[in-house]
Amino acid sequence: MRKLIAGNWKMNGRLADGTALAVDLAGRAGGAGAPACDLLICPPAQLLHPVRAKIEGSAVALGGQDCHAKEAGAHTGDISAAMLADIGCSHVIVGHSERRQDHGESDEAVRAKAVAALGAGLVPIVCVGETAEQRSAGEALAVIERQVRGSLPGKGPSGAVVVAYEPVWAIGTGNTAQPSDVAEVHAHIRQLLNDILGDAGSGTRILYGGSVKPGNAAELMAVENVDGALVGGASLVADDFWAIAEACG
Ligand code: PGA
Repeated sequence: MRKLIAGNWKMNGRLADGTALAVDLAGRAGGAGAPACDLLICPPAQLLHPVRAKIEGSAVALGGQDCHAKEAGAHTGDISAAMLADIGCSHVIVGHSERRQDHGESDEAVRAKAVAALGAGLVPIVCVGETAEQRSAGEALAVIERQVRGSLPGKGPSGAVVVAYEPVWAIGTGNTAQPSDVAEVHAHIRQLLNDILGDAGSGTRILYGGSVKPGNAAELMAVENVDGALVGGASLVADDFWAIAEACG
């Protein structure tokens, strides 16, 4: 499966540096020797439109970091999947652990957002992952199974959704999961996807996220059932994001 390298800029970037980063990436993607993977950047909401203008027509796709489950209405501060699609997004991250933690998003709420994304023609990137406490209690696989079953919309065609496994303890900490742990979790998620999505399960991308960097990307991307990466901190540095993309082979 062709891998997807997705940059999650989180709450980082102003007009000048955000658009400069977009121009840099779009330029590299258009050049000879572009990496053999799909590229996506997910800037904060205020940068979506100016960034779109810089990457339009390039091999870099645009995604949002969250969406509301409703299409429009009285929801101050929120943005809908239809609005993201309207300004040129193809993807949207839903259920990132920072949103689950900071905004108390339940699996049910995440699923409603994923369903809204599909309805708007977007590919939802549904995030799951255990905390350090859950892992040390031996609950990692059970937690992930509950999140996958609870957060994923039901049956759909292959490629309609992406799952991102991001152990909470590995996000922004510099601690990366061991390849053997990643392999175990991704194999479990693959089984679940086959169960939930039937034939489409094998063609559904499972990304790994959590302190992915140029130095560990090749090792992580070589793990079975790892179909790309969701990159936070390193996606803010063009050279680093590019090196991760190149690690896809
Ligand atoms: P990180 O973030 O690469 O900075 O650890 C990953 C993510 O939260 O998507």
